[in-house]
Amino acid sequence: MATTQQPLMWRDEFATGVAEIDEQHMILVHTLNEAAAKLAHDTSQETLEQITQDLLSYALYHFETEEDLMQRYGYAEGAGDAAEQHLSQHRAFSSKVVSVREGLKSGMKITAADLLEFLNSWLVNHILNTDKKLGAFIVAHKAEA
Ligand SMILES: [Fe+2]
Repeated sequence: MATTQQPLMWRDEFATGVAEIDEQHMILVHTLNEAAAKLAHDTSQETLEQITQDLLSYALYHFETEEDLMQRYGYAEGAGDAAEQHLSQHRAFSSKVVSVREGLKSGMKITAADLLEFLNSWLVNHILNTDKKLGAFIVAHKAEA
């Protein structure tokens, strides 16, 4: 079954102001578009497993980058709840992808369209509502340093 998906375009409003984070977000956007292009003509279980595996490992690496920055800039101390919520969104994303992968392995049918819809909207919401807060905090504290 083929799926059509609007490509996720990088928008200026995605910029957090922190180059390291923005570069990784651009890679994530690119990765999701590559996944969509692939899934447009191949929604085999192998492909879904490969895509979710690659995405999960890059996402974990990316979360680590952000969480190292949180440590370095004292985000938990400085932002309290926002830091807590940020970490829990990372955890929730990782466990959702892990459970999708478990579902795939046990033969559950997952549509490419649903998967892409979840991934794209999670990334956009997370960048706009959560990563941008972290970015603003880092930018403010860089200026102080
Ligand atoms: Fe994040």
